Amino acid sequence: MLKKSIAACVAAASVVIAPMTQASEVEVLHWWTSGGEAKSVAYLKERLEGKGVSWKDFAVAGGGGENAMTVLKSRAVSGNPPTAAQIKGPSIQEWGELGFLASIDDVAKTNKWDSLLPGVVSDVMKYDGKYVAAPVNVHRVNWLWANPEVFKKAGASIPTTWADFIVQAKKIKDAGYIALAHGGQAWQDATVFEAVVLGVGGPEYYQKAFVELDMKALDSKTTEEVFKVFGELRQFVDANSPGRDWNVATSMVINGEAAMQIMGDWAKGEFVVAGKKPGTDFVCVASPGTSNAFTFNVDSFAFFKQSDSENQKAQKAMAQEILGSDFQKVFNLNKGSIPARLGMARDEFDTCAHDSMNAFVSSAQTGGLVPSFAHGMAVSEAVSGAIYDVATNYFNSDTSAAEGKKQLVAAVQSAM
Ligand code: GAL
Repeated sequence: MLKKSIAACVAAASVVIAPMTQASEVEVLHWWTSGGEAKSVAYLKERLEGKGVSWKDFAVAGGGGENAMTVLKSRAVSGNPPTAAQIKGPSIQEWGELGFLASIDDVAKTNKWDSLLPGVVSDVMKYDGKYVAAPVNVHRVNWLWANPEVFKKAGASIPTTWADFIVQAKKIKDAGYIALAHGGQAWQDATVFEAVVLGVGGPEYYQKAFVELDMKALDSKTTEEVFKVFGELRQFVDANSPGRDWNVATSMVINGEAAMQIMGDWAKGEFVVAGKKPGTDFVCVASPGTSNAFTFNVDSFAFFKQSDSENQKAQKAMAQEILGSDFQKVFNLNKGSIPARLGMARDEFDTCAHDSMNAFVSSAQTGGLVPSFAHGMAVSEAVSGAIYDVATNYFNSDTSAAEGKKQLVAAVQSAM
């Protein structure tokens, strides 16, 4: 979909890359506007300014980045792309194929990125064998965030399976709390759906059905079971959820209005900014049934071709900074993720980050390390858009599980 929509515009307008930025300036597109996110990206700005590179902020609010990607497309087709943009996963290849991206391979070679990054990360950062993007982190998406005080008051325990989730969530609801803090936005619905897919079906099914798009796996009893569980969650979400931002949902867990949120570990950034400590003020556990698995979501900046040589230098300075160990540490302490760079000291990271680091390594050995389809890591934009639509329509209706499955199969098939 990205390729088609951009290619159509490129054909209509001849692309002139105009130097819109000042000398030695980077204009950076991202969607990090929540408390924890803003603190994280501010550190990149600070580091670059310390090196004489000025920062032109191009923040487009909207969790999950859909709005940011729409704005990026229009800037790119008008011949004025930013210096760098937060682009992830298979989309990097699509932008590369369209000829927009600049090689930063010399920076990568000088700084030995091939040996600093896990293969699963470095592969995605290259187009045509050359680095065109730099990874800032690895987020784990399959997390459950819980307020232990609310659990205590409701006499509930933290669930480790989806069957148990339903039992505990009922207790929480009966005690007068919101069991599941959730924002009714398509990408958040897809994030919860993804956790159910992984917890109910396991990583092998997840990989077959939602990464390889194997129609037999997708059109199976397991998918129907996934929809059944996903549908049961509707009753635990409050009536004000439509349109709510993810960080507002996180704040409901922080302030004890709600018991749980299913969200990637950018949610931890919000707990940290609020001065909360893991293990005492909040609890992080793998989302139900997924302790042996890890849905990964690697944030990265892709670099756009620049005609001005000073800006090319600034762009390379940014690329180099991103893989620096100081940046990888501080950024990830704030963001809730773990460093993309291997061999980093663990001592300043908290227990949630340690769990994530351990799960990243162990799941890679057991086949449980899978790319997040809800966060642009697994399939094309067209297919993930189709999954978003089905998940969100299903969650906001009383469609049966059998019908949900049917709609998913049809939508994915037509988007492929
Ligand atoms: C994800 C992104 C994260 C976080 C989240 C909410 O797609 O990878 O870094 O920002 O959206 O906006």
